Amino acid sequence: MKVVVIGAAGQLGSDLCAVLGERAVPLTHQQVDVNDPLGLLAVLRETRPDWVVNTAAFHRVDDCELDPGRAFRLNAVAPWNVARAAAEVGARTCFVSTDYVYGRDVPDPRRPWLESDPPAPLNVYGTSKVAGEDLVRQVQPEALVVRSAGLYGVRGSGKGWTFPQLMLHLAETRGAVRVVDDQVLSPTYTADLAAAIVSLMEDGAAGLFHVVNDGHCSWYEFAKRTFEIAGVEVDLAPQSTAEAGRRAARPPWSALASERLPRPLRPWQEALEEYLEKIGKVPAGRTR
Ligand SMILES: NC(=O)c1ccc[n+]([C@@H]2O[C@H](COP(=O)([O-])OP(=O)(O)OC[C@H]3O[C@@H](n4cnc5c(N)ncnc54)[C@H](OP(=O)(O)O)[C@@H]3O)[C@@H](O)[C@H]2O)c1
Repeated sequence: MKVVVIGAAGQLGSDLCAVLGERAVPLTHQQVDVNDPLGLLAVLRETRPDWVVNTAAFHRVDDCELDPGRAFRLNAVAPWNVARAAAEVGARTCFVSTDYVYGRDVPDPRRPWLESDPPAPLNVYGTSKVAGEDLVRQVQPEALVVRSAGLYGVRGSGKGWTFPQLMLHLAETRGAVRVVDDQVLSPTYTADLAAAIVSLMEDGAAGLFHVVNDGHCSWYEFAKRTFEIAGVEVDLAPQSTAEAGRRAARPPWSALASERLPRPLRPWQEALEEYLEKIGKVPAGRTR
């Protein structure tokens, strides 16, 4: 299996390359631009992969509200370009999508969203990713579409900080941290997500999969757990989404689970502990 990884310098892209080893053909933004269909086709004709995984995105959620054109170019038209170029060389496409395809509703009774639940985004980012999913599937009905959430990885996010890094930085520099407690998600370690995506590709999987670390929490609980594991004392308090005052509307409930994966990934708390260990934030002597 030969896999072109687009966005190879990103946090998910770099973990995909690590899991794939010699099977990966890493392509950074400098090497290929997903907005350039001819450039994409030339690279794929040269490399002749079995799979093309597209991790490139415009995912700064508030900025997407200011520039919907860019959001749709990067998150919808570009994935369509990638899928068409992949189809041209006989490769399968894997498109990475998001829990923010949900948000307009909350299931009653509350339960994680499953693959069979129709998307209902409430911001530009989520809407552009739903469009990307649809366009990719129009080109390749058998494409693999993987929705994940709240990503953090050792390489660090293209947004700047991962959420745990940001929390630790704020604790160190400000001493007091306020975090929203009315948005619930399934935070996911990119190393675990990468391993699961590679395993799906190895199995020749097709269609939509929700791939997240097992369980869910609010951003406030995510921060609290980060501080507990890192042994950081901080004045942490919950705040509401309204108090946080961000530009883009955020899903109050975007917990995900899968009705299609053979087994769930490990719980988010375990994955977070391993991540914090890897970036050197777990005090010596802490036992699991
Ligand atoms: N981060 C999250 O919390 C989250 C949650 C759910 C789903 N997702 C999805 O998961 C995927 C991976 O996210 P991530 O956090 O790993 O992102 P990331 O760390 O920002 O990596 C994305 C990579 O794509 C590259 N890229 C951007 N524009 C490009 C273009 N026009 N052509 C080629 N490459 C381009 C970036 O390079 P430059 O930095 O050099 O531009 C970056 O290396 C995305 O599709 C995202 O929508 C993310």
